[in-house]
Amino acid sequence: MPGAGSAAASRSWLLLVLLLLSAFAALAAGLGSAKKVYMREKVRKMFYHAYENYMVHAFPHDELKPLTKTFTDSLSELGNLKLERLPQNYNGSALTLVESLSSLVVLGNYTEFERGVLWLSDNLTFDVDARVNLFECNIRVLGGLVSAHILATDSKSRLEHGLYKNQLLDLARDLGQRFLPAFETPTGLPYAWINLKYGVMEDETTETSTSGCGSLILEMGALSRLTGDPRFQAAALRALRKLWSMRSPLNLLGTTLDVVTGDWIEYSSGVGAGVDSFYEYLIKAYILFGNDEFWDMFHSSYLAVQKYFRHGPWCSTNNFLTL
Ligand SMILES: *[C@@H]1O[C@H](CO)[C@@H](O)[C@H](O)[C@H]1NC(C)=O
Ligand SMILES: *[C@@H]1O[C@H](CO)[C@@H](O)[C@H](O)[C@H]1NC(C)=O
Ligand SMILES: *[C@@H]1O[C@H](CO)[C@@H](O)[C@H](O)[C@H]1NC(C)=O
Repeated sequence: MPGAGSAAASRSWLLLVLLLLSAFAALAAGLGSAKKVYMREKVRKMFYHAYENYMVHAFPHDELKPLTKTFTDSLSELGNLKLERLPQNYNGSALTLVESLSSLVVLGNYTEFERGVLWLSDNLTFDVDARVNLFECNIRVLGGLVSAHILATDSKSRLEHGLYKNQLLDLARDLGQRFLPAFETPTGLPYAWINLKYGVMEDETTETSTSGCGSLILEMGALSRLTGDPRFQAAALRALRKLWSMRSPLNLLGTTLDVVTGDWIEYSSGVGAGVDSFYEYLIKAYILFGNDEFWDMFHSSYLAVQKYFRHGPWCSTNNFLTL
């Protein structure tokens, strides 16, 4: 999606300046250097405590259960509060490893990063009979793979074995393609649930959340740019635009909706669960892709939130469309 005009360019500068200013402010207010080293060491230890115990007791399952030192294959449980329609024969997708790769790079552990990347390249498959939440699978798995791919590409010279040949991008593309059937609705709004092997299941619920429709553009947009396949971005953008068209005259959105009829189910609006990442993705999409369209949606939403939800330091939930 092409470029930003001069208004957008000046906004980018403003964002950059704000970021730099806040970084300097943090430094100036700053922690003394001994304290910084102490805190950094503490964070490092906490990371390895969690990571190594996952690798010993749970990998390649999805998550560690720390009290019992066992595992749970939680990808199919995420967002599934009633634990309905769980798969019978699913043994996990090394979810915690996927989610840890970027931290390994931040900590400078390229050896372990490469080991994880190569394990996933060899062993991860999405051809599994498991019903997963599109939103959760997108933010964790697709996001994890896309960011690890970018990090692996950027740090190729620091990887010892020279074996990285875009395998994570291939996995991400495969996963993205498994997402696409969820968007085949009359409205373009995606189903909340998709079976990785079989697509949308029979009698699948048509109810989803605002976050579920409006928090896909970062990962799917990046996937399109990296693969050259426009379908991922197109699907996410169509859903986001449809969602935005459903806003009230106050520029507020409800919390849950029906993907087939395009009607709101829960009309109350807010900034909490079910909506929060909709706002987050608008500003991040503007920063990442630079399109005025994302800025305009964010700006209108932001003003509406300030106007209708804000009471002193608190944000409240409002009942809107009862106009
Ligand atoms: C999951 O593990 C069980 C027990 O080891 C095995 O019988 C089953 O075939 C595995 N499922 C898949 C999809 O590999
Ligand atoms: C990298 O991670 C592995 C696995 O947790 C650990 O054994 C190793 O000490 C780490 N390397 C560094 C330099 O921290
Ligand atoms: C893939 O998994 C198998 C079985 O656990 C393992 O032997 C192999 O080393 C893994 N591949 C990589 C590249 O780590």
